[in-house]
Amino acid sequence: MTKYKIAILAGDGIGPEIMKEGVKVLKVIEERNDVEFEMIEAPFGAGAWFSEGSSFPEATKRLVDEADAVVKGPIGLNHEESKKIPVDQQPERGALLPMRKRLNTYANFRPVYLPKSLGHFSPLKPEVIGDGIDMIMVRELVGGLYFGEKETGINESGKRYVREVLEYDEDQIKNILHQGFKLAQNRKKVLHNIHKSNVLKSSVLWNEVLDDVATEYPDVEVVHTLVDAAATALCLNPGQFDVMVMENMFGDILSDQGGGILGSLGLMPSACLGENGKAYYEPSHGSAPDIAGKNIANPYSMIGSMAMMLEYSFGMVEEARNVWDAMQSVFAAGYSTADLSKPGSGVNMISTDVFGDKVVEHLRANA
Ligand code: NAD
Ligand code: IPM
Ligand code: MN
Repeated sequence: MTKYKIAILAGDGIGPEIMKEGVKVLKVIEERNDVEFEMIEAPFGAGAWFSEGSSFPEATKRLVDEADAVVKGPIGLNHEESKKIPVDQQPERGALLPMRKRLNTYANFRPVYLPKSLGHFSPLKPEVIGDGIDMIMVRELVGGLYFGEKETGINESGKRYVREVLEYDEDQIKNILHQGFKLAQNRKKVLHNIHKSNVLKSSVLWNEVLDDVATEYPDVEVVHTLVDAAATALCLNPGQFDVMVMENMFGDILSDQGGGILGSLGLMPSACLGENGKAYYEPSHGSAPDIAGKNIANPYSMIGSMAMMLEYSFGMVEEARNVWDAMQSVFAAGYSTADLSKPGSGVNMISTDVFGDKVVEHLRANA
């Protein structure tokens, strides 16, 4: 019996609702395999700041350090509520970025996937979707503007000013590019390099490093695309993309656009991988304060993140596949949560927990 310790950080807003459904799925996997999941819940996020005085309490830090994997729900509050927490302690800056740095999860994989049969979920026309949408965005996660030096103050003219530094060294760039190339090698052997070298020096260095790294992957074709053009291309011709690699901020923005072309951020899971097996898994989206507490959020992103954990952290490739298939079966049977079942769409609307129950049903049927 293999035992894995999993840190469960439910987070804020819809976090606890979608986490509950993910845990249901993990229990089924545990039942029918020779594994034991020791799931330990811990406070993390805005809720933790109010209850513990810290959005990333010391005990949670120790837990994520010793866990075999971490699953995390979204954190954060809406614009007005956020102001109740001092800027540097807000959970994005006070918990999430520090956890990414602590675990050094520099490689963030964000699949953007919609089979042709579910094309009606997407705002794009069928002729644009073609055979379906299937790409993976590979986002650098512990560098760039997010982690550079920051300074605010009053300048010599008496004006408030801000300075934020975008910094990468060549090793950081190399590491994420290797991840992109390796993934491309295992898929269609095409790597879209997303950059802004017509303006940013950071992209000039990025592309120089890319030319070096590319020599190790002669079988992978590199397509260079400026990030602004990539945003348009995602809407007009998403089928041209397979693996896209990019720096932190570009990846943040384009991956939410990925959710947009699928039809909902609720379809966006992710894996955040570091070295020596360090990893955490989270939906790409936020805490959705507008729908929190209503049992209407789509748990696909959370359950999908757990499927990624099964594959990448525990090597349970087949069970991961079964989880994806079970979720696709729920959609194929005509059901979805509110985000994807607009009036007139012909989709039967179900709640968050019923979606989870149906995934479990399909999973059990496929034992
Ligand atoms: P958001 O991603 O929370 O929501 C954007 C829209 O998508 C909303 O209409 C929301 O209802 C919808 N949505 C998101 N996930 C959904 C799901 N699973 N099912 C159905 N609908 C879903 O973005 P926001 O409103 O800009 O941010 C809210 C908070 O989340 C902010 O505090 C932000 O900082 C935080 N945030 C956290 C993370 C994270 O923890 N990784 C990621 C992004 C944003
Ligand atoms: C994401 C989120 C985070 C980011 C925020 C909450 C810090 O938007 O995971 O995409 O910008 O990386
Ligand atoms: Mn984001």
